[in-house]
Amino acid sequence: MKPAEFKRRRHQLMKMMGKNTIAILPSASEIIRNRDAHFPFRQDSDFLYLTGFNEPEAVMVLIPGRKHGEYILFCREKNPEQETWNGRRAGQEGAVEIYGADDSFPIDDIDDILPGLLEGTDSIYYTMGGSAEFDKRLIGWVNHIKAQSRAGLHVPSEFVSLDYILHDMRLFKSREELRLMRKAATINVRAHKRAMKLCAPGKHEYQIEAEFDHEYRSHNASHAYSSIVGGGANGCILHYTENTDPLQDGDLLLIDAGCEVEGYASDITRTFPINGKYSKAQRELYDIVLAAHTAAVKKVKPGNHWNDPHNAAVRVITRGLVELKLLKGSVSKLIKEQAYRKFYMHRTGHWLGLDVHDVGDYKVGDQWRLLEPGMVMTIEPGIYIPAKTRGVHRKWWDIGIRIEDDVLVTRQGYEILTDGLPRKASEIEALMAS
Ligand code: GLY
Ligand code: MN
Ligand code: MN
Repeated sequence: MKPAEFKRRRHQLMKMMGKNTIAILPSASEIIRNRDAHFPFRQDSDFLYLTGFNEPEAVMVLIPGRKHGEYILFCREKNPEQETWNGRRAGQEGAVEIYGADDSFPIDDIDDILPGLLEGTDSIYYTMGGSAEFDKRLIGWVNHIKAQSRAGLHVPSEFVSLDYILHDMRLFKSREELRLMRKAATINVRAHKRAMKLCAPGKHEYQIEAEFDHEYRSHNASHAYSSIVGGGANGCILHYTENTDPLQDGDLLLIDAGCEVEGYASDITRTFPINGKYSKAQRELYDIVLAAHTAAVKKVKPGNHWNDPHNAAVRVITRGLVELKLLKGSVSKLIKEQAYRKFYMHRTGHWLGLDVHDVGDYKVGDQWRLLEPGMVMTIEPGIYIPAKTRGVHRKWWDIGIRIEDDVLVTRQGYEILTDGLPRKASEIEALMAS
């Protein structure tokens, strides 16, 4: 992503903040996994969105209209010895030259410098609750100025929630963001195809999981979340990530896996027969989920609201379950009573972007949000029937199915970013046989 895109975002944010304001946003911190080992570092998505700066121990400050520079980045100083052990740092020079900061200071000097930047502003744009420790430090800096208010220092009088503006900005994807999301989608489609082709009875779930690691890293993408690779009964566990079991002939395999490119996620689920051919019972349920998926996607268009796709999926699933005698009664009554939740217990999607469950409100007041061009969401209906489900014939047991794609709202309606991956049962069978 080019520096100009980050600059554009900062300017847009500052325009909305107005005069006599300051925005403060800390980076993510490194997290210890065990003793000296850390989890792979993942930058905070808000921070990444505004800076493109991928180091821990940094704080972004924006002060609209400040004469000596509006964008200040606190970050680690260069340190040849530390860099030998732990990797390169941009330092203050890099913050200015590479990342476009107007000014940059060592993060160790923040206690001395930040109170001076707060002084004279009226409102502090900041997201409380992200880090209790940083919240405390910020209040400490404000109190530091308060203590000097009798000396004439102007104390900021209000905190404004930064994420309120920022998350609405993030909800609408720019052309550059869509380029990265398309790239993530394309890599992910390749990975899922690879998994379909290499799947065979006798292999283990982790071997199929490894194909995603291979495909993602081969294209310099990383995981957007832990892969779910669940054969048979494991497909009925929504967040199954152990991925340890052998794959049985006759079972389905549910794979929910996604990669990210420069932070932007793709999120796909497919469910296919381990031996390459859906059984009659599997196919009957699969075709209901597919029809629910189709009906939900059709509801993605400007002017419809967030919950329209979910309502469409619920209707198709309930009707299908009644036809298969898995539910009994009138379809509209069963929907009203949410009887479908016995088999379909999650929602039909979520916003997608820098976070796999991306930011952005789903409701405005008590109304579902209207869909607008530039929003990206998943559509992911499913049916899950664990063994021994009461009142259910055993031929349906241990069938868990989900079909998930990434869908962009366009001016005309929708574009499925992950459309390159087969979804119809017959197409999946053909790919597996090829
Ligand atoms: N992979 C997480 C989700 O589908 O929401
Ligand atoms: Mn999802
Ligand atoms: Mn998913």
